[in-house]
Amino acid sequence: MPQYPPLQVAYNQPVMVGKENEYMAQAIAAAKFSGDGPFTHRASELLEQQLGVPKVLLTTSCTHALEMFAFLLDIQPEDEVILPSFTFVSTVNAFVLRGARPVFADIRPDTLNLDEAGLEALITPLTKAIIPVHYAGVGCEMDAILEIAGRHQIAVAEDNAHGLFGKYKGKYLGRFGVLAAQSFHETKNFTCGEGGALLINDPALVDRAEIIREKGTNRSRFFRGQVDKYSWVDVGSSYLPSDILAAFLLAQLEEREKVQSHRRKVWEFYNEHLQDWARTHAVGLPYVPPHCEQAFHMFYLLLPTLDLRQGLIAHLRQRGINSVFHYLPLHLSDMGQRFGGLPGDCPVTERVSDQLLRLPFHNALTEADLWKVVEAIQEYDF
Ligand SMILES: Cc1ncc(COP(=O)(O)O)c(C=O)c1O
Repeated sequence: MPQYPPLQVAYNQPVMVGKENEYMAQAIAAAKFSGDGPFTHRASELLEQQLGVPKVLLTTSCTHALEMFAFLLDIQPEDEVILPSFTFVSTVNAFVLRGARPVFADIRPDTLNLDEAGLEALITPLTKAIIPVHYAGVGCEMDAILEIAGRHQIAVAEDNAHGLFGKYKGKYLGRFGVLAAQSFHETKNFTCGEGGALLINDPALVDRAEIIREKGTNRSRFFRGQVDKYSWVDVGSSYLPSDILAAFLLAQLEEREKVQSHRRKVWEFYNEHLQDWARTHAVGLPYVPPHCEQAFHMFYLLLPTLDLRQGLIAHLRQRGINSVFHYLPLHLSDMGQRFGGLPGDCPVTERVSDQLLRLPFHNALTEADLWKVVEAIQEYDF
């Protein structure tokens, strides 16, 4: 193992941004530790109002919101679900857990989002859903994806783990599919450690979503006084977070303008100061189409080769800076191969997975940190 100096700039560092302590103390004092308490309602309402989503249910993770997709879209064994190979395992596992067969789409080389040009060729009579992932919080080409899905009467649900408050053609990400999933994991713009949300754009799915999230019972209706006892009415699990976590999350969401404006500055700093180095070294930088307002979730570099990418990770680490690669192609993983994945199936995914490096990106980065990162990168010559 190489000897590295102490870390000076972490790739991620979750921090308090507002009234987290105060709200958690209030939740504890109210002796309402379990889910769906006052802070859960406030955080959900904030998201509903800001995004214009009919119903938001906080969940224990984005993974769990994605698992709820599979129930709500009535995914059955042998159904096919189309999703990018370049995504996190939860996007696929949620459906595989219900017996579905994943069909892996390649990504566009510019935004690294599901390539809508290859989508129609993947559709078969067994296709039940399409799951676009808004990588790095930059919107997928939703007009084209919805047009194709609509023509084939296939549901679209968005994995928006990275994209809270991003927009596509002026409309918030998470508003396009029947359902969308958010993540509040500590690596995300807004966090409560582990957490997520299910955004429900189709009001017809709200009742069942509440039941699935409450262990397959109609307890939510009971708490609202709509039934006089609650019982087992459907399949389900326990997907609701503690109100103490919701209190933490609410405090973070209330500071959304401050957080997003800081993250915008971080992104623009990297983008401005790395342009020349990137051009002279044939390194790719993120691309944001003019009709997308990104969520400022991450900044990445695309190095010409895997060796150069690994070299830069080591070069930065020797200078006390932590940078990371991202997704390995799902279709080439052990599980992906069991579903028939082969090298060459998704060439852009395979190439980008070797090239991509994520720079430190979090809510506590200072300008001095950013200079350190940029100067260290500029010293990496090849
Ligand atoms: C695209 C995507 N979907 C889902 C998840 C899972 O999120 P969580 O950790 O909240 O379950 C992640 C995690 O980073 C992700 O990147």
